[in-house]
Amino acid sequence: MENFSELNLNESLKRSIARMHFKIPTPIQAQAIPPALLGKDILGTAQTGTGKTLCYGIACINKLLNDRGSNALIICPTRELAVQVGDVLNGLIENTMNIKSAVLIGGESMQKQLRQLQKRPRLIIGTPGRLNDHLKRKSLKLHQAYFLVLDETDRILDMGFIPQVEQILKFVPKKHQTLLFSATLPQNILKITERYLNDPIRIRVGSTTTPISKIKQEVIQVSEGDKYNKLLEELYKRKGSILVFVKTKRNADKMADRLHDDGHPCDCMHGNLRQSKRQRTLIAFRSGKIRILISTELAARGLDVPSIQHVINYHLPQVPEDFIHRVGRTARAGAEGCALTFVTPNDRQMWNEIQRLINPNVKQEFNTFKKSNYRKRKRFSRFKQRESNESKPFKKNYFKHSNNDERRGKKKFRFKKYSRRGKNRAF
Ligand SMILES: Nc1ncnc2c1ncn2[C@@H]1O[C@H](COP(=O)(O)OP(=O)(O)OP(=O)(O)O)[C@@H](O)[C@H]1O
Ligand SMILES: [Mg+2]
Repeated sequence: MENFSELNLNESLKRSIARMHFKIPTPIQAQAIPPALLGKDILGTAQTGTGKTLCYGIACINKLLNDRGSNALIICPTRELAVQVGDVLNGLIENTMNIKSAVLIGGESMQKQLRQLQKRPRLIIGTPGRLNDHLKRKSLKLHQAYFLVLDETDRILDMGFIPQVEQILKFVPKKHQTLLFSATLPQNILKITERYLNDPIRIRVGSTTTPISKIKQEVIQVSEGDKYNKLLEELYKRKGSILVFVKTKRNADKMADRLHDDGHPCDCMHGNLRQSKRQRTLIAFRSGKIRILISTELAARGLDVPSIQHVINYHLPQVPEDFIHRVGRTARAGAEGCALTFVTPNDRQMWNEIQRLINPNVKQEFNTFKKSNYRKRKRFSRFKQRESNESKPFKKNYFKHSNNDERRGKKKFRFKKYSRRGKNRAF
């Protein structure tokens, strides 16, 4: 398929695709849309920024147009992503189509959503928590949801979300079409997907374990102490919008304050902020009013902000797959981008896991084992020396008190203090 007009689509949908200036389908769209239009279940993977939203979006709206007795449900892992998907799909819906939609996400007024639901929307997009809230209140009915999408499948079906998703699916008709899409799909989740799919078509475009090649990858090995100054240097050097990932909500707040003080206007986004603030920040970042956005994992999945030119991993993610999603916030829809990752000696294990995911045959690039072994050996030899030295009864005393909890606590504390100082000295 070389053009969207070749697809067997409802004419009004063809018009709205043309109005949105989409002409040539991306490879995942070319492969996934035709079987989806035939009502097949799809398990689709394609790299970040390759147009997966439009894949299920087109199939969804076409189904709603051709089958007036069916509704659609799209589940997304984050509120921001649900809003974005809502915007893309509403872009495909013209007034004449007479299809109403509702975005049901947490942190927003229940009243507003109840009013939307009273209008009997046929397209529901939401996050698992709020969808369940509405189902419990009986304000949401899913008995006609014959079209189901789990966007960012591997996140939606991981341990954190699966009980909520199972709960939602109890309200969906047994016979329905399911579309699953993601850029990554770890083996354990691949197995779980079988439970949700009926004779699916597996569509795989590109790798599920490597970031898109248009991203220029850079790595800086740095000590924990020098990291912030290095970040400042990099921010000065770079032009265009920058998304910086940190580990925790507290890190995000602190970093935003610190950068402000150091002359870098920026804002932060994380789960402790009010939804209205999160949404405002994202709009400002999209429009270029904010050049630097500090975020937790919240912004890692699905967000499409074409102006992002640089992604900086100030902290590494907790799961290797998230690295691929994070860096995939840049270089979208054929554009180029840059990803910079800071790696400290403490990140050794996670960094090696990320490397192994991206290229299982690669030799571990970041190897501080020698150094840490050297330090361990040195500590051990000092310990041995003390043990043999009769004039310093250190070891004896230690064991004498080893059953005393209070004493042990003190020892542990001392060791911690020592090791923290040691770390700063060494790097
Ligand atoms: N056929 C197309 N032609 C041109 N641009 C397209 C086409 N399809 C989608 N796009 C654009 O590509 C960008 C990325 O699309 P989308 O957000 O759907 O990617 P994705 O594959 O879902 O990425 P992620 O894995 O990060 O969620 C969007 O800005 C979208 O407008
Ligand atoms: Mg997506």
